[in-house]
Amino acid sequence: MQIFHTISELRAWHKTAGSVALVPTMGNLHAGHMALIREARQRADHVVVSIFVNRLQFGQGEDFDRYPRTLEQDAALIAAECDSAVVFAPDERELYPHVIQQYKVEPPALQDELCGAFRPGHFRGVATVVLKLFNIVQPDVACFGKKDYQQLFIIQSMVEELNLPLEIVPVDTGRAEDGLALSSRNGYLTLEERTEAPRLYFHLSRMKKAIQAGERDYARLAVETVMDLKVRGWGEVDYVETRNAHTLKPATHTDHDLVILIAARLGQTRLIDNVEFTV
Ligand code: PAF
Repeated sequence: MQIFHTISELRAWHKTAGSVALVPTMGNLHAGHMALIREARQRADHVVVSIFVNRLQFGQGEDFDRYPRTLEQDAALIAAECDSAVVFAPDERELYPHVIQQYKVEPPALQDELCGAFRPGHFRGVATVVLKLFNIVQPDVACFGKKDYQQLFIIQSMVEELNLPLEIVPVDTGRAEDGLALSSRNGYLTLEERTEAPRLYFHLSRMKKAIQAGERDYARLAVETVMDLKVRGWGEVDYVETRNAHTLKPATHTDHDLVILIAARLGQTRLIDNVEFTV
C-alpha cells in the first residue's frame, strides 16, 4: 500500500493508473469506511482513500481540535482491506497553501437546513474540499456513506450541476449490532452513553413503522421522539424531520420515497442518523 502526502506524488501515480475510485474520509476509520472501500474496489482498477480533517467544515467550538488523527492505525486497516489501495493524506498546507481559501463552493439553500441550520458554513466547507479532492485525484467514481444523507445529496447535486466527470456511489449506513450508525464520533461516547445511543435508531425505526402503517402526522411522531430523548437525558435534539428522499424537501402526504433524518446531542457528542423507506 502506498501513502502519498503531496498532490504532485498523487498526480505522478495517477498518470500510470487505470480507473480510480475515491473514498474521501477524515480518518479514524471504522467498519463503515471499510464497506466504502469494498464498494470502491468493485468499481475501479484502483482505490484511493483520502484522509484529511478539513478545518473548513468545522464551526467555532466544534470538535476540529479533538477529532481523532490516527493515520498509522488507518493505514493498517486499509492495507488489511485492500493492499493495493493508495492513501492520500495531505497536511493543511498542501490542501490550503494560501491558508485562507478564497474560492469556495456555495451549495444551494439546502445548505442552511437540517444539519446546516446548526452548523453554519459546514456544507460550504464540505463541498469545497470534496471538489478539491475530485480535482486532485480525478476519480472515475467516488463512494460516500448514506449516514451523511444531506452531505451525499449536496455532493450529488454539485456533481450534476457542475458537470463533474465522475459517478457518485451511495453506500448503505454500517450499523453496530444494536443499531447504532457507525461513526468516528461514537468514540467520544462514554460507556453509559454508548448504551443509550441506539435510541436514535430505535426512534427512526419506530417512526418508519408508524408511517408505513398509515400514520401521516410526521410532526407528532417527531415530537414523541424529542420528548422521549429529553426524558432519557439527551441534550439538544437539533431536528427530527421526515423528508422526500429524492428532493430532501419536507415530506408531503403524497410522497412515496421518504427519509427520516435526526440529529441530537448525547453528552458532548452530536450524533446523526437517518432511515430511507418507501410507503
Ligand atoms: O464525510 C466525511 O468524512 C467528510 O465530510 C468528507 C466527505 C471526507 C469531507 O471532508
